[in-house]
Amino acid sequence: MSQVPNTDEIKKGLAGVVVDYTAISKVNPDSNSLLYRGYPVQELAARCSVEEVAYLLWHGDLPTPEQLADFERRERAGRSLDPLLKHVVDELPAGTHPMDVCRTAASVHGARHPKAEDSSREANLEKALELFAAMPAVVAYDQRRRRGQEPVEPRDDLGYAANFLWMAFGEEAAPEVLHAFEVSMILYAEHSFNASTFTARVVTSTLSDLHSAVTAAIGALKGPLHGGANEAVMETFEKIGIRADETHEQAKARAKAWMDAALAEKKKIMGFGHRVYKHGDSRVPTMKAALDDLIAFYGRPEILGLYDGLEQAMDEAKGIKPNLDYPTGPAYHLMGFDIPTFTPLFVASRIVGWTAHVIEQLENNSLIRPLSAYNGPDERHLD
Ligand code: COA
Repeated sequence: MSQVPNTDEIKKGLAGVVVDYTAISKVNPDSNSLLYRGYPVQELAARCSVEEVAYLLWHGDLPTPEQLADFERRERAGRSLDPLLKHVVDELPAGTHPMDVCRTAASVHGARHPKAEDSSREANLEKALELFAAMPAVVAYDQRRRRGQEPVEPRDDLGYAANFLWMAFGEEAAPEVLHAFEVSMILYAEHSFNASTFTARVVTSTLSDLHSAVTAAIGALKGPLHGGANEAVMETFEKIGIRADETHEQAKARAKAWMDAALAEKKKIMGFGHRVYKHGDSRVPTMKAALDDLIAFYGRPEILGLYDGLEQAMDEAKGIKPNLDYPTGPAYHLMGFDIPTFTPLFVASRIVGWTAHVIEQLENNSLIRPLSAYNGPDERHLD
C-alpha cells in the first residue's frame, strides 16, 4: 500500500476517525448515553462508590464484597502524602499551577517506583491503584499550602470521596456535598478516546511506562478545550459577577446579556460544546441534579440564575449544549475548592480511565503513528 498521503483523506483533529476497539466505555451520541463496561454511568453514579467504579473500569466487572474489601484496604493504605512528593511540591513556587503540580507528582511517583520498568498487567494494576490513592493527598496538600494551611492527614475510616474532602478542608463533608463530589468523580472517571486518554494510549503504544502515559495525559487535560474548561466556566461566572443578594431571575438576565455580547464578539464559551455529543452531554443531567442539591443546600439561587441564563442564551443563539465541565465548575466552587484546583480534581478521577486504557492498549498493542501531508517548501538545496 502506498505511504503517500491522500490529502482528500485528511481528518483534521482526527474528527470522526475510529482508531481502535475499546471495551472500557461506550459513548453513544445518538442516544446520549455513556456506558462503563456496559453499565449506564447514571446507574453507577446513583448506586456505587468511586472505589467500585474504579474496580469496574480496571477489572471489567464490579467487585464482590470480598474483592471490594481488599481493594478498599489497599487504596486506604496508599493515601498518605509521600515525603518525596511533599518535598517536591514544597520546592515548587506557590504560584505553580496545580495542574503542573499534579503532572510533576505523577512523574515523580513513577521515577522512584520499584517496578518502574515492569509493564505487566499485574504491575500496572498495582501502579494504577497506588497513583489513584496518592493523588488526592497531592491535590489537597497543594490547595492547603497555597492557602497557608497545614496539611490534613488522611483517614482510613472514610471512603475515597469523603477522605478527599476531609484532606482538602479538614472537616467531614455534609451528605449533600459528599454525594455531589462522589457523582462528579464517577462521571469524570472515563470517557473513551478523549484527547488525554488518546495521549496516554499514544505514549503506551511506544511501550513506554504507565507513569509516562499518565504524566503526558495530565498535560493534555490541562488545556481549556479539554479538562481546563471547568476552571474557565467558573472564571466566566466570576467575570459576569456573582451577587449573593440577587434573585435567580436577576442573575439569569445578566448572564443572558453577557452571553449575547460574548457570542456577538465570536468568543468561544468554555463549558459548551463537545466533539462527540452534538445534542447534549450524557453526563450533564446527573451532574446538574447534584449541582441543584448543592445550590439548595448552600442557599445560592444566584448561581443557578447564572447557570440557567448562560445555558438558555447559548441554546437560543447557537443550539450548543453544556458539557460536563459546565455543572462541575460551579459545583466545585460551592464545595469550597479554589478555581485552579478544579482540573486537578478531574485528574484524580480520570487516572482510573487513563490507566485502564494503558492496560488495554498493551493487551493488543500497535504503535500509533499517523501520516501527515507535507505542505512546506519544495525540495531545495544549499548553494
Ligand atoms: N462556544 C462558542 N461556539 C462554539 C463552542 C463554544 N463553546 N463550541 C463550538 N462552537 C461553534 C464553533 O465556533 C463552530 O462554529 P462555526 O462552524 O460557525 O465555526 C462550531 O460550533 C463547531 O465547533 P468546533 O470547535 O469545530 O467543534 P469541535 O467538535 O472541534 O469542538 C470543542 C469541540 C469541545 C473543542 C468545542 O466545543 C469547544 O471549544 N468548547 C469549549 C471548551 C470546552 O468546554 N471543552 C470541554 C469539552 S468536554
